[in-house]
Amino acid sequence: MHPSHTFSVAPMMDWTDSPCRVLHRCLSRHALLYTEMVTADAVLHGDRARLLGFDTFEHPVALQLGGSDPAKLAEASRIAVDFGYDEVNLNVGCPSDRVQSGRFGACLMREPELVGECVAAMRAAVSIPVTVKCRIGVDDQDPEESLRRLIDTCAQTGVSIFAVHARKAWLEGLSPKENRDVPPLDYGLVYRIKRERPHLTILVNGGIETLEQAQEHLTHVDGVMLGRAAYQNPMMLAEVDARFFGGEATDPDAAIDCYAEHVERQLSQGARLHPLIKPMLGLYTGRPGARLFRRHLSEHAPRDGAGIGVLREALSFVRERRAA
Ligand SMILES: Cc1cc2nc3c(=O)[nH]c(=O)nc-3n(C[C@H](O)[C@H](O)[C@H](O)COP(=O)(O)O)c2cc1C
Repeated sequence: MHPSHTFSVAPMMDWTDSPCRVLHRCLSRHALLYTEMVTADAVLHGDRARLLGFDTFEHPVALQLGGSDPAKLAEASRIAVDFGYDEVNLNVGCPSDRVQSGRFGACLMREPELVGECVAAMRAAVSIPVTVKCRIGVDDQDPEESLRRLIDTCAQTGVSIFAVHARKAWLEGLSPKENRDVPPLDYGLVYRIKRERPHLTILVNGGIETLEQAQEHLTHVDGVMLGRAAYQNPMMLAEVDARFFGGEATDPDAAIDCYAEHVERQLSQGARLHPLIKPMLGLYTGRPGARLFRRHLSEHAPRDGAGIGVLREALSFVRERRAA
């Protein structure tokens, strides 16, 4: 069954790694989760188990690929299927220099035909959905034209699902971080694309901070994709199933216990605590005990031999505060 795109957590390098996705899955059964971007070259030549391995609990999970060589992307997509991914997504939005020199990411907004060839090759190679994440344009492009051209060129090859980060990337002069905040958002353009092309599944991304905002976007488009807000305040995901999927709200304590069990299993297999804890740091932001929780984890989790006790103790700071 193809995954639902109503609510997803965006691909984020160094952030949406496997531990992060397991934590998010403990909080929401239905949100679609994206990996960090992995380049097609890395998939073909790198340590696949490390780059692509994930916990089956993470389903539904989409692999985001970077690249612009149709044959390599096709092969990387086949490998993604072997690993069990539910979708492959092509990155047409990342603005970093490293990515530009490799001729992929956001600079591909200038080469819609090449993107079309890439997704056509990927679709020919696999039967899971092939989707595209893009910007509305780059530099001096007219977004009204660049976004429609990119989407229409890909749609002609049969791609029907597009996640649009609703701002341009300015490839000259802005850092990747600035490129997530400085170019203005244009949600209206994304809404219009959906109205004009109702048969396509259009997801809006960029600057969505609350589930209320997400709900409002869903009156205009098919899906919302949240990046930083979901990572920095993962507890919001506990409401997602009830609000967007007709399911039940997740009990936050049960979700965190579920993740703590995952941490314990990973530790028993030789993993280190610190990377497992990283996605939890924002969990209790704004709630009593949050600072103690964060400080305890930041101080103790990186130490050699740090065990599950560190997490349990940190959790006791927030839970005891609540009970008091
Ligand atoms: C730390 C970080 C890493 C990111 N890495 C990727 C990436 O690998 N691929 C991608 O398409 N976008 C990446 N992005 C962009 C996000 O997917 C998203 O488009 C952007 O943050 C805007 O959404 P937001 O305002 O909800 O965060 C990254 C964003 C952040 C903050």
